[in-house]
Amino acid sequence: MTQFSIVIPTLNEAENIDPLLTRLFSLDLQKESFEVIIVDDGSADGTPARVRAWESRANVRLVERREKPDLTGSILAGAALARGNVIVVMDADLSHPPERVPALIAPVLDGSHDVAVGSRYIPGGSTEGWPLHRQWLSRLGGWLARPLCDVNDATSGFFAFRRELAATIAERARGYKILLELLVAGQGKLRVIEVPICFSDRTRGASKLSFSHQWTYLQRLMTLAGGTVSFGTASRFAVVGLFGVVVDALLFQWLMSNGAGLALAHIMSFFAAASVNYTLNSKWSFRLHHAGHLQWRQFSRFLTVGVFALLMRGGVLALLIYSWHIPSYLAIFPAIAATAVINYLGSAFYVFPVEHNPPSPDVRWRVASLGIIGFSVLLRLIYIGTAELFPDEAYYWNYTQHMDLSFYDHPPMVAWLIWLGTSIFGNSEFGVRFGAFCCGLITMGYMYALARNLYDKSTAIRTVLLLAVLPFYFATGAVMTADAPLVAAWAATLYYMERALIGDRRSAWLGVGIAFGLGILSKYTLGLLGLSALVFVIFDPAARRWLRRPHPYLAATLALLLFSPVIIWNMGHNWASLSFQSSRIQGVGDDQFSLHLLILHLMVLLTPVGLLAAIMALLSGRDNSGSSHERRRRLFVLAFGGVPLAVFVVLSIFDSLRFHWTGPIWLGMLPTMAWLMGQTDDLRAVAVRLRSAWKPTIAICLFLYAFALHYLVLGIPGIPYRGIYEGFPEHYFWREATQGIEEVVEEVRQQTGQEPIVVGMSKWSVASVLTFYNRGKPMEIRSRNMFGDSGAMYDFWYPSEPPTARPIILVGMWPHNLERTRQDRDIGKMLVDPGPVQDREIVQDGKSLRQVYYRVAYGYLGEQHLGNLK
Ligand code: GDD
Ligand code: MN
Repeated sequence: MTQFSIVIPTLNEAENIDPLLTRLFSLDLQKESFEVIIVDDGSADGTPARVRAWESRANVRLVERREKPDLTGSILAGAALARGNVIVVMDADLSHPPERVPALIAPVLDGSHDVAVGSRYIPGGSTEGWPLHRQWLSRLGGWLARPLCDVNDATSGFFAFRRELAATIAERARGYKILLELLVAGQGKLRVIEVPICFSDRTRGASKLSFSHQWTYLQRLMTLAGGTVSFGTASRFAVVGLFGVVVDALLFQWLMSNGAGLALAHIMSFFAAASVNYTLNSKWSFRLHHAGHLQWRQFSRFLTVGVFALLMRGGVLALLIYSWHIPSYLAIFPAIAATAVINYLGSAFYVFPVEHNPPSPDVRWRVASLGIIGFSVLLRLIYIGTAELFPDEAYYWNYTQHMDLSFYDHPPMVAWLIWLGTSIFGNSEFGVRFGAFCCGLITMGYMYALARNLYDKSTAIRTVLLLAVLPFYFATGAVMTADAPLVAAWAATLYYMERALIGDRRSAWLGVGIAFGLGILSKYTLGLLGLSALVFVIFDPAARRWLRRPHPYLAATLALLLFSPVIIWNMGHNWASLSFQSSRIQGVGDDQFSLHLLILHLMVLLTPVGLLAAIMALLSGRDNSGSSHERRRRLFVLAFGGVPLAVFVVLSIFDSLRFHWTGPIWLGMLPTMAWLMGQTDDLRAVAVRLRSAWKPTIAICLFLYAFALHYLVLGIPGIPYRGIYEGFPEHYFWREATQGIEEVVEEVRQQTGQEPIVVGMSKWSVASVLTFYNRGKPMEIRSRNMFGDSGAMYDFWYPSEPPTARPIILVGMWPHNLERTRQDRDIGKMLVDPGPVQDREIVQDGKSLRQVYYRVAYGYLGEQHLGNLK
């Protein structure tokens, strides 16, 4: 009885037939157990004759197709004639070792799996003799297929499957990637196994893989992912698109040269071009498809995509024009191209998704998630270099101008990252924030891996989706504060902890040690995870034996070693950080009940839906399987998410702590939140509500980020900067305000013939931003600790200033900062001939951004006068 059939497609493989069949039939298999079906597509080199010579000798059949040559078509034709219940597909050119056939069919024959894939990309597999570009193409092809199926080598041409499955393959399937078709048709329900194989390039004949096959593959991928690829209307669509580009570019340039300002010009020209495109497309190119009009639902989706594309394009324009100084009439073209890509993908997947044979809900989730993640990451990448620094970021940049092992008010990681970024990209906003951006990506990587280990790949993708959209994680992946590396290290610690405690990997302790060490070099709150680990080990008998092994202790020692710069710095500085941190904790010991404030704060960090989902994850993230993996997973989430949260909740009952410190603890709940998002069988009312609330939450979050960034960098026509939020412009527009101060300094230089000392009149903000944005003639900058107030690191950098007769220019965000110190002393009494507080309006493109306040004096009396002041 024939157990399995080997289907081999051929196109001009004459020289390979004999060696292939010889090797196949000398396998240690029963002669009758299998047959070989060779499907030839009209070879002209005598392949059919070679096969026919075998037909009488062995169990070989030749099928000669007369249709248009096609690999998938050939395999399906062979499968239709197969007598075996299991089908093996392989190439004729000996790239696939016939000796691996037994290993490949075994798991399908014994009924334990539906499909077995001969895989090059798992341990034990390899590729030999392929030029580099083919290897890259193959890898790329595999990566692109990842969202669709959970296989490492989805483009393999060597696989076995149960014969019935052939009927599930879409009729329109074409080209090389029949395995992918098979896997996608299974909608994730197939039992798939990968068997390692060594692929070696053919030694005879030539490959038939052409560019057009790869193009077909891309199109097929898009269709399988739920996107429309329609080329029937492509030429008309392109003509309309080009016409739109012309309208867009001309109107943009006209508006720019008439002084409209970047934001107004590009938004107006965008809408003009979009309406032209829309009208022409609906009247002309899409006419046949949509009977002359689009439905309302489609139109609103079309608008949504357009708005997102528009907000992104503002960032591209700002980057090109403001940062790279490309003239606007050139910059508009790449900006239009970027918009077109977003519009195209949005149209294909969201406005006009495929209606015939739509992908499974799981695949749709994945594709949508990837789109959203991509948008979120790109949005950050485009805008972080053009949005001005916040004072905190500028302060940390000042750390790098006085590089040290550690700092008084922060451990050093934030400074080290800024140092790295600015060494590569220069002292620019991008250089400062590059580290934060990378930390965001690292967080995504570790959280993906953690969620995959705890749950599955779909959950892992949704976990990354949450990182891309929840406010705290979006912000820490863009703004350079200590939270950026903290979050990344927190994610890494969670990942290695899971591998060590649940996965039982010894080597994971090395990761724990490094991640933990780097984490406390970022911010001390990471220490809470030590407590979490302890709780886990106490309640989990299997993990408890780690206590009797050296690994956790070695990890702790390694972490301590990594932390040593902080200790060394503090030994030389009277343990200054220690007293700072403890005063910080005592200082807030205000006995105020602040649980409600904590909750309010969390709604901002996580959105209300996110907060609710996190609580659900803690309380009911159970799958009722009762398995030990399930039990340990619950414990992990409770220990690594619940315990740190409990600490903050208890503290908040007595104290108004710094609530953003709670930001990273939600990482422990994130995988379970993501898992709950996909649990469609939980029919409790809360669960259903929560699931349906995610979509609008995600959309609103993304919109707000894009909108806010556009507003900060280019503005939004009709919304001024001043009068919207008290104090915002004074804290923010320092690039322009510093230019204003440089002018004041120059005036004083001219007037006195001396170099003035500029004093930022806040703890560290003003001095820091002035130093960062001092792009004109260098100024000498000090901070307010000159007047006896604390100046954080400025106390160390400029501990005292000798009396001087040089001019002094005080600069501040508010007038009162220039008159009295924090301890309510009269600043004027320490100055010679102090003038009144003056202000300067900072204007850009004819729009008022903010005020900046300053005060000029003609000498400084020195600190010994401090005591006399009242
Ligand atoms: N019947 C038929 N019709 N057979 C074809 C056709 C066709 O149109 N085109 C190619 N073949 C046969 C070849 O004769 C060979 O036996 C097999 O299909 C693979 O073709 P190659 O031309 O050798 O492809 P390749 O080596 O470049 O690509 C291989 O590796 C890829 C991995 O990235 C194949 O195994 C692909 O399926 C695989 O994706
Ligand atoms: Mn080949």
